[in-house]
Amino acid sequence: MQYNRLGRTGLQISRLGIGTMTFGLQTEEAVSRSILDKVLDAGINFVDTADVYPIGGSLETVGRTEEIIGRWLPGKRDQVVLATKAVGKVGPQAWDQGASRKHLIDALHASLRRLNTDYVDLYQLHWDDPDTPLDETLEALDSLVRDGKVRYIGVSNFLAYRLALALGRSEVRNLARFISVQPRYSLLFREIERELLPLAAEQDLGVVVYNPLAGGLLSGKHKPGAPTEGTRFTLGSVAWRYQERYWHQRYFETVEALKPLAAEHGVDLVTASIAWVLANPTVSSALIGASRPEQLDQTLAAADLALDPAFKQQLDELTHEYRFGDAQR
Ligand SMILES: NC(=O)c1ccc[n+]([C@@H]2O[C@H](COP(=O)([O-])OP(=O)(O)OC[C@H]3O[C@@H](n4cnc5c(N)ncnc54)[C@H](OP(=O)(O)O)[C@@H]3O)[C@@H](O)[C@H]2O)c1
Repeated sequence: MQYNRLGRTGLQISRLGIGTMTFGLQTEEAVSRSILDKVLDAGINFVDTADVYPIGGSLETVGRTEEIIGRWLPGKRDQVVLATKAVGKVGPQAWDQGASRKHLIDALHASLRRLNTDYVDLYQLHWDDPDTPLDETLEALDSLVRDGKVRYIGVSNFLAYRLALALGRSEVRNLARFISVQPRYSLLFREIERELLPLAAEQDLGVVVYNPLAGGLLSGKHKPGAPTEGTRFTLGSVAWRYQERYWHQRYFETVEALKPLAAEHGVDLVTASIAWVLANPTVSSALIGASRPEQLDQTLAAADLALDPAFKQQLDELTHEYRFGDAQR
């Protein structure tokens, strides 16, 4: 496993990180633990979660994923860079979501309790909350850093201009600065190459990408028509979102075109898809996800695969249209 510095910090994280959002609903606890054990053995030190996980659940299931990690963590805390997120809705009150000072401080304390630890390494805003003034959010996060409960702060799903504004405010106010972004990125979703990645490169931000297999579509196992039961595309409350995101004729056609290309180069499509994301020099780490430990064999293989430049160029060209928008538009 190789390790990259996360943005301008001195923190080294593994090129592959483990995503945990399937733990506690799609994936039961014992299997979740074997996934964590397997990736730790493979040299992954970066574990990403969120207070709202597991995905596909409801307010009743919020926090289950962090609890599973919290029961696995004792004795391993010093081997793990632990990242979690807040902003999603976690309770019935109007203020049980968002990036207000009240909510972020409550949310962090709840995460620490569930995770069974007294600090998180990276605390991320799960998405932008335009209803809370940026200064209020930055002051709240800064206080958590000063209290030692959070080592670094980052964002996810931010538009480039909002992140640029936030970086400016933290500089002017001398508050803790966001050190990383967590956007969606794959062969089928490349819009971030136009604004967010150039901003990240210029500002030396770490980039941790999610959905590198487009929720599994890039495995090539799905066919148009009704999605297979038990997969991301039928998973409870997120089934519709993933279908809306990826279940489109154009994407199926692209995946069919990618299959022979990968075969020609003797690389599994799953491995090639992750390796392609990692080949972007602005990407610090790619979050791999699994509902079963066996799925990790192909994703872990990407950590050691240097894509042949000609193959990379073919992949770039075949998916060039996805720099400009989703297939459904
Ligand atoms: N910040 C955010 O808003 C956000 C959003 C999404 C994810 N994330 C983070 O990123 C992590 C990874 O995201 P992701 O799970 O969506 O990544 P992904 O790589 O796009 O999808 C992973 C899914 O693909 C399928 N899969 C994986 N390996 C496979 C294989 N070898 N063969 C066939 N199918 C395979 C599995 O789903 P099935 O078994 O269901 O087919 C697996 O759960 C998450 O756990 C979370 O930590 C963050």
